[in-house]
Amino acid sequence: MGKTYLVTGGLGFIGSEYVRLILTEQPDVELHNHDCQTYAGNPENLQKVDQLERYHYHKVDIRDRDAVYAAVEKIAPDCIVHFAAESHVDRSIEGPLLFVETNVMGTLHLLEAAREVFKKNPDFRFLHVSTDEVYGSLGDTGAFLETTAYDPSSPYSASKAASDHFVRAWGRTFGLPILITNCSNNYGPYQFPEKLIPLMINNAVHGKPLPVYGDGKNVRDWLFVEDHARAIDLVLQEAKIGETYNIGGEAEEENLNVVHTLCDLVDEIRGPLEAGKSRRELITFVTDRPGHDRRYAMDITKIKNELNWKPLYSFEEGLRKTVKWYLENTEWMSHVVDGSYKTYYSRMYDDR
Ligand code: NAD
Ligand code: DAU
Repeated sequence: MGKTYLVTGGLGFIGSEYVRLILTEQPDVELHNHDCQTYAGNPENLQKVDQLERYHYHKVDIRDRDAVYAAVEKIAPDCIVHFAAESHVDRSIEGPLLFVETNVMGTLHLLEAAREVFKKNPDFRFLHVSTDEVYGSLGDTGAFLETTAYDPSSPYSASKAASDHFVRAWGRTFGLPILITNCSNNYGPYQFPEKLIPLMINNAVHGKPLPVYGDGKNVRDWLFVEDHARAIDLVLQEAKIGETYNIGGEAEEENLNVVHTLCDLVDEIRGPLEAGKSRRELITFVTDRPGHDRRYAMDITKIKNELNWKPLYSFEEGLRKTVKWYLENTEWMSHVVDGSYKTYYSRMYDDR
């Protein structure tokens, strides 16, 4: 008999990529998705697979302890792959408490429910999907290792760091079979346009200003979302219980370079807004994000050597594929940038 997966946050950007991967490549898996559909949870992200009989959606809010316990007990999954979170740094600066409720308390409710499942199934696994932001900010050189001390800067990264600590504590204290992955910046189809890449593509298409924070020289390491989904499943299948893996694209870029490349790709594929005018002219430098981490870089030697994983997409290939996807899926974007997005955008950028 095939396995039963419980995915949380499977209507979000990375969660939906993972659900698509499992449902298309593992025909024996029965997959349950717990997602409460925040602004970031979008059923249209799964329109290609959600008709399958092996897919089951449950509207569960991980902040609701009783609902989590009841749902997890009923499903009795072989694994929980935990994506559900508030994920945007700027929103965490505006309203930190929700990040504690979802990312910390929500994770605790799942861990407690998981203990009950583990009592009846010794092969159970809990995989916590986390971020490189728990490690803080780097100077001009070096890269984060799995052993780098935690030093989070934003309410978002502090909440993810706290949840990582709780997951490890449940492993050490209660023997829960846990795994943690810490990944760098993802990009690709179905990403909500509050994040740098889809926001810039959407604005560039419509000839709107491209708001670059500070001097634009902050560095991020970029990974195509399909590569991340593949890495997560590999860790789930192959890693030793209790291990942590850093995941990244070995693709460090300054934000301004990323925005330049996006402008050039949109100009090339869609044609320029006006003859002889580059979309780069839309760039506007705006007030910096408070506590803005300067540079992230990931040392991914461990996952490469132990699990034989490496990113398959170069940043160049992945970015071209991503821009094409947004230009071809204008209906998806038009549904996403509805009233609440307009309010968010104006709150975040109008007086910046
Ligand atoms: P996202 O914001 O696109 O999606 C989050 C999903 O979680 C949504 O479907 C939302 O509805 C759901 N959710 C939020 N609160 C919930 C709640 N209380 N109950 C149930 N569901 C809830 O996020 P993402 O970018 O796909 O990130 C997924 C995970 O990966 C997060 O844990 C994030 O911290 C981590 N991560 C993200 C990145 C990145 O670059 N986006 C990188 C590393 C790690
Ligand atoms: O590193 C992993 C993290 O990457 C994930 O854990 C987070 O969930 C995810 O949101 C992402 O965090 P960042 O803050 O790095 O991503 P964001 O897309 O918000 O910003 C990327 C960089 O671009 C950052 O230096 C801020 C800058 N930026 C962002 C936006 C939205 C701009 O200059 N202008 C913008 O409008």
